[in-house]
Amino acid sequence: SRSINLAVIPGDGIGQEVVAQGLKVLSAVLPEDVKLETKEYDLGATRWHRTGETLPDAELEALRHHDAILLGAIGDPSVPSGVLERGLLLKLRFAFDHYVNLRPSKLFPSTATPLAGRPDIDFVVVREGTEGPYTGNGGSLRTGTPAEVATEVSVNTAYGVERVVRDAYGRANSRPRKKLTLVHKNNVLVYAGHMWKNIFDKVGQEYPEVTTDYLHVDAATIFFVTQPERFDVIVTDNLFGDILTDLAAAVTGGIGLAASGNINPTGEFPSMFEPVHGSAPDIAGQGKADPTATILSVALLLRHLGYETEAARIEDAVAADLAERDGSTTRTTDETGDALAVRVAG
Ligand code: IPM
Ligand code: MN
Repeated sequence: SRSINLAVIPGDGIGQEVVAQGLKVLSAVLPEDVKLETKEYDLGATRWHRTGETLPDAELEALRHHDAILLGAIGDPSVPSGVLERGLLLKLRFAFDHYVNLRPSKLFPSTATPLAGRPDIDFVVVREGTEGPYTGNGGSLRTGTPAEVATEVSVNTAYGVERVVRDAYGRANSRPRKKLTLVHKNNVLVYAGHMWKNIFDKVGQEYPEVTTDYLHVDAATIFFVTQPERFDVIVTDNLFGDILTDLAAAVTGGIGLAASGNINPTGEFPSMFEPVHGSAPDIAGQGKADPTATILSVALLLRHLGYETEAARIEDAVAADLAERDGSTTRTTDETGDALAVRVAG
């Protein structure tokens, strides 16, 4: 019989609330013959305050043996900026070699957005997840003095770029439009930018059916707003992808709907699924957070584990639910979770 052994890291702020709804919908959608086992990990701000730990080796080792990880949100104003981000979230992405950070953007009909009424928006950003300026390769000299010098070196390896570019071609090739856009800034970042473009062109020879395009990241932000229909699959570096996917979320229904998967395509390590949004401490504990992004992340998780029917059922439920959401009344986090759990079960 089938089983899913899931690690759950609710994390900080609204992370707890939205993850509870994600698990509710996951239980509701799974067929009875699939055994779901979950283990919660106490990681994040509370843990750090209590013990000073972010991600101890023992927990990293335990996490590695799960089929997948569901994460809520990491970060709290009471913890110095960077401690949990680097020590927990990025540590997980790097340790489990999540080199494909998958962030789909689809404009559900009837979603409140500056781009409402443009149903053709359906693209996915393949954000590189283990390199770029995120590796912590930098330093500061004469810190705090008027002569301070800070560097933050972007690391790009041919190995790292080629594997994510190849993954993006594969995704583009399996979608109806078969279009792949590379986003970089190779008019200024000439070393990394030219390497990305050369590898992009080289790997493209293996995918003759995929139409390719290149955009500088600044131009890409314009098209995200003025002409988002032009995108199908986008491949880009870690930092550009971070920024572009917040913009993508904002123009396609808001950060409350944006899902993501940190994928290790080889299957050597568990992949990790999380909403694109953060811990939102300003609304934490009030039952106001929209759990939809987490629930859609559960759909990505199911698809990754081979449960395509169940993944599609969640996405259809969200589309139907959004179509009926009434802008004048606000639902609680729990009510939205209940509504979606009922739809996927029924
Ligand atoms: C995201 C977040 C993270 C990132 C932060 C919290 C480290 O913004 O998942 O997009 O920059 O990747
Ligand atoms: Mn981000």
